[in-house]
Amino acid sequence: MDERTVLVAVSHVLSSDGERADLARLRAAADAVGARIFADVTQSLGVLGMDLAASRPDYLAVHGYKWLLCPRGAAWLVTRHYQELRPLMASWRSTADGGYFGGSLHLAPGAARCDASPAWLSWVGAGAAIELLSRLPAATAERHCLALAAAFREGALDAGATLPGIAPPSHIVTVRVRDPEAVGTRLRSSSIRARMLGDRLRVGFHYFNNDEDVAAVLRALRG
Ligand SMILES: Cc1ncc(COP(=O)(O)O)c(C=O)c1O
Repeated sequence: MDERTVLVAVSHVLSSDGERADLARLRAAADAVGARIFADVTQSLGVLGMDLAASRPDYLAVHGYKWLLCPRGAAWLVTRHYQELRPLMASWRSTADGGYFGGSLHLAPGAARCDASPAWLSWVGAGAAIELLSRLPAATAERHCLALAAAFREGALDAGATLPGIAPPSHIVTVRVRDPEAVGTRLRSSSIRARMLGDRLRVGFHYFNNDEDVAAVLRALRG
């Protein structure tokens, strides 16, 4: 990052191995060169909190179908720079004055200028999911998920798996396993939804998971 850097686009938690970016440190480094930050929190929001005051992302994007438990199709962008944005595809939502039906395009003065025509059913599901999540105690939910991930990491190491050195850890854990094919087969036969990427097993824990789920994945890992 140097004075030529305009924008730093970063995923708060990396999908592939759960690595968590330190957004507050990134903010300080970006401020030093006058760069903006685009933070994608698709892999963290719903489980992990973030210090918005310290990280102040210029753009915060989230697709709801992962940890926010929404159907695919509901996504959000939060930015204070919305007046600079030009929608790639204007819709009836993004116009100020009915320009949708012809004539010049006048963008809505607010953030609606970037709204897409809503996918109705996705937003019905998203409404229910966000209501459910907003009733959970956020700090407790985060602690719960991180504790499950820590228990899994510990058990996986005991079972002979190896771990990349990820700090600080998140609710997503990736470990290298000795016999990926057999582990994959055992996961499938136990109806466990986890991802094998080559010799790496990736699991993620949400608030609805519990110790028995951790034990079940570890059983599949050990054979
Ligand atoms: C960081 C991040 N952002 C967004 C997405 C969602 O991508 P898409 O909207 O293309 O399904 C993913 C999916 O894995 C992701 O890891």
